[in-house]
Amino acid sequence: MAFHSRDSVQPVWDRPVLGIETSCDETAAAVVAGNRILSNVIFSQTEHSLYGGVVPELASRNHVRKIVPVVREALSRAGVGLEELGGIAVTRGPGLVGCLLVGISTAKGLAFGSGRPLIGVHHIEGHLFAGLLGDTDLRPPFLALVISGGHTQLIHVRRWGLYEICGETRDDAAGEAFDKVAKMLGLLKSGETTMGGPVISRLAEEGDAGAFAFPRGLRRQDGFEFSFSGIKTSVLYHLKSRSEADVAEQRADIAASFQAAVVDVLVEKTIRAAGTLNLGRILLTGGVAANRRLREEMQRAAMEFGVEVCFPPPVLCTDNAAMIACAGGFRLGRGERTGRDLDADPRMKL
Ligand code: KG4
Ligand code: ZN
Repeated sequence: MAFHSRDSVQPVWDRPVLGIETSCDETAAAVVAGNRILSNVIFSQTEHSLYGGVVPELASRNHVRKIVPVVREALSRAGVGLEELGGIAVTRGPGLVGCLLVGISTAKGLAFGSGRPLIGVHHIEGHLFAGLLGDTDLRPPFLALVISGGHTQLIHVRRWGLYEICGETRDDAAGEAFDKVAKMLGLLKSGETTMGGPVISRLAEEGDAGAFAFPRGLRRQDGFEFSFSGIKTSVLYHLKSRSEADVAEQRADIAASFQAAVVDVLVEKTIRAAGTLNLGRILLTGGVAANRRLREEMQRAAMEFGVEVCFPPPVLCTDNAAMIACAGGFRLGRGERTGRDLDADPRMKL
């Protein structure tokens, strides 16, 4: 039997699904069967850091160069041939249109060439299913905090496939704030990574989180909206008002204080939302969910309020194709298919 259900709300498809993710600057392919990862290959494009941010044209050209070897590697590590796949899942949106199109064209070619079914997946639904890959017992209803370079959203997951956005950012995403502050602090010059989060997080370990009181945007406001542009501006003014020598000396304190301000707001709003919606379980997912201080603080607060928290391992928090394969497997298992007219949807709604 190709499809089974562990309970009525959590369908798991046991056929292997190839997932392809190219929405931004990661070229990724993975094979997942149900919630078992058979392979998970990620090629991160690092040279964007030389230009101060992801350059869309460069990103799509890199995807074209890398996608075939990455897909081959994923299939070979999984030991699964195209003909054995239950289907092929690909990120349809949101993301950079040129980048999405590389993944979609590849997936279409493979699907129609091999006769395997095709399914287009929403990138954020992928991040939700990363929760299931990290914790196979994760069952709705739960509250998801999806925090990445492009999104900051609180989502009420009523059932798999049934989502309600309770709050999101009015301006910058949380990850974007990490990336911009890392850039301001001169931490992203090396061409090694475009992700400011891990670099700030590492530097913050050596700093004093109480050194500077950066603003906690919309912290006391009702509702579950976020704002991170104020804190970014506040760090910028702080840097401008000090000499280079002072900044060099304070870098770790600034990183720690900035991180603490972002974490405070994320924790407070998420715990409040869980209380208001009467949800006993929280999933942290998306790149920023890899942040150690956030994980610790959320866990501490959740324990105080009697709520359970889970987060996938860091490699499943940041962009990957295993989460796309898992979400695709869920949809294929429900009988959904996407046709030959599959197109990129850069502003796709959840
Ligand atoms: O989910 P993701 O890989 O890509 C998007 O869908 O945007 O998230 C990437 C974001 C980047 O902004 C990166 O700086 C942030 O996640 N990030 C982190 C950490 N690891 C990645 N932010 C804070 N702490 C981390 N350890
Ligand atoms: Zn993402």
